[in-house]
Amino acid sequence: MAFVVAIDGPAGTGKGTITKIISKRMNLLNIDTGAMYRSVTLACIRNNVAPNEEKKIEKILDNIDIELKNMDGEQKIFLNGEDVSKEIRTPEVDEQVAKFAALKSVRDKLTPIQRKIGENNNIIMEGRDIGTVVFPNADVKIFLDCSLEERAKRRYLQNLKKGINESYDEVLKAIIERHKLETERKIAPFIKANDAITIDSTNLTIQETVNEVEKIIKSKMS
Ligand code: DC
Repeated sequence: MAFVVAIDGPAGTGKGTITKIISKRMNLLNIDTGAMYRSVTLACIRNNVAPNEEKKIEKILDNIDIELKNMDGEQKIFLNGEDVSKEIRTPEVDEQVAKFAALKSVRDKLTPIQRKIGENNNIIMEGRDIGTVVFPNADVKIFLDCSLEERAKRRYLQNLKKGINESYDEVLKAIIERHKLETERKIAPFIKANDAITIDSTNLTIQETVNEVEKIIKSKMS
């Protein structure tokens, strides 16, 4: 196994932005596992398949090809050859993804793909179960935390920038619902690994959080 940095944390902590910056600065391949769960969800939505239609989901999973590519420093995700990097970030996918991500068949498909990437590459991988399930022996485990209100505020502002019109209260409610599904599911529930180092980003800027994360990674590299 190459050098693996696992970053887990709830939605809206800035995980995506932070891992992107660190990956460039430290020359680590950036893997956003949430994007993989979102792609499966998009494929199911497009085929009018609901989270309780296990057999149909299995069939979709048998025929699905998900690929992450770094293009000009940007991470793009391809679903059966199509760039779906934008389509996976709609409110519809947001609303459904935690239900699909709770399914055993979906996790059984994506976890081995994620492990394989870590066999041959020095990576920084972000998600919910990276330090607990995907790479329990990761070289560095970071748990990025943030208050619920701040997370909702950040997601609300992100949405505004993207032209998505959702009120702060709607965003807050959706975050609470997803968090409940993610933490209470039977398979690979979202919990902090015992040996993960927590960084609370509630009162930190992106730059301050990046510095904290980088300091921890460097201390484990030497
Ligand atoms: O990080 P995100 O919001 O893009 O994640 C999308 C969904 O996928 C979210 O509901 C949590 C789930 N997820 C997961 O269950 N396991 C991961 N390793 C990554 C994401």
